[in-house]
Amino acid sequence: MSAPNKSYDPVEVEALKPEEIERMRDEALAAFAAADSLDALHEAKVAHTGPASPLALANREIGALPPHAKADAGKRVGQARGAVNKGLAARQAELEAERDARVLVEEAVDVTLPYDRVPAGARHPLTTMMERVADVFVAMGYEVAEGPEAEAEWFNFDALNFLPDHPARQMQDTFFVQGPKGTEESGSGVVLRTHTSPVQARALLDRELPVYIVCPGRVFRTDELDATHTPVFHQIELLAIDEGLTMADLKGTLDHMVQSLFGADMKTRLRPNYFPFTEPSAEMDMLCYVCKGESIGNPDRPCRTCSSEGWIELGGCGMVNPRVLTACGVDPEKYSGFAFGFGIERMLMFRHNVEDMRDMVEGDVRFTRPFGMEI
Ligand code: FA5
Repeated sequence: MSAPNKSYDPVEVEALKPEEIERMRDEALAAFAAADSLDALHEAKVAHTGPASPLALANREIGALPPHAKADAGKRVGQARGAVNKGLAARQAELEAERDARVLVEEAVDVTLPYDRVPAGARHPLTTMMERVADVFVAMGYEVAEGPEAEAEWFNFDALNFLPDHPARQMQDTFFVQGPKGTEESGSGVVLRTHTSPVQARALLDRELPVYIVCPGRVFRTDELDATHTPVFHQIELLAIDEGLTMADLKGTLDHMVQSLFGADMKTRLRPNYFPFTEPSAEMDMLCYVCKGESIGNPDRPCRTCSSEGWIELGGCGMVNPRVLTACGVDPEKYSGFAFGFGIERMLMFRHNVEDMRDMVEGDVRFTRPFGMEI
């Protein structure tokens, strides 16, 4: 084993000469100062502080020095490395601050820009109107019921007391999907339901008594599309069957509905009418919610909404015909009830002064947008 290197002089070791160590330090600091990006600084860091950097190599030489020379050389190299690390940290902080400032500018978000260029969709005002009406009855404990749009002729007509040769079958002009009764195709045909009333018969057959249902839905008639008619439109049907229900219950329910929808001072009136499935039957009008009847006979106060008639026709109603109850297996001696139905398009027309029903079916968002964007 060789003796300790007593004659090894740090001054003679090139890498440990004071001026050499200063040069290494200064080169490192100059490289850091010259680094114009964090990537460039990283490269300079590896070159000047990494295990193969000049100062790291010089540091390794210290181990071979005799003890009396180690402290001095170690101090010089340590000071140089300390200065280099300090310079590196300072430049790192500078470059990071520059990057953060740049990112804040480059990635700034203009909060005034529209957040979404694709306009969100919304439900059609007919849908929201139907739901609003149905909600009035759901709040009273009614159940929402549904029926098929392609309906058995029996439910659409026969169960509702439209006899085979009854003129009422012509009253509602019908789309037949499958041969009408009485043609060579025997049995009950299939129609596109002409009203929501077949749900009355379905509800009575499906449910335990008492029955309280509200049925919003789409119906079809062979009407031409014009300002006040469409071949596909919407109705809301109401049916209440219980023990002891009378016309007074019907009137009270109608008043409650218009008060909930149009205001506390609203009321309805009934005018005699005929429907095969109700007896007695009535046409129901509601007080004009704009003029509250003040336009009647008052030329100084004309009303566009009700054409100065003071009342707006809403739909049909009546006490359910005992024949319908019997056809659906309900004892008319024990049970009675009322029904009513009206068109949603017409309600939307007078409620929002829509002059042409075609606007509701053409799907132009310029029509629907003013109703709001309820989802
Ligand atoms: C009926 O459809 C009955 N089922 C209503 C009824 C229910 C009466 C329960 C008694 C008891 P009507 O044919 O009158 O009735 O139609 C009701 C409403 O549908 C009308 O008041 C009208 O608002 C609307 N309506 C009828 N035809 C059209 C159409 N082509 N386009 C838009 N709405 C229509």
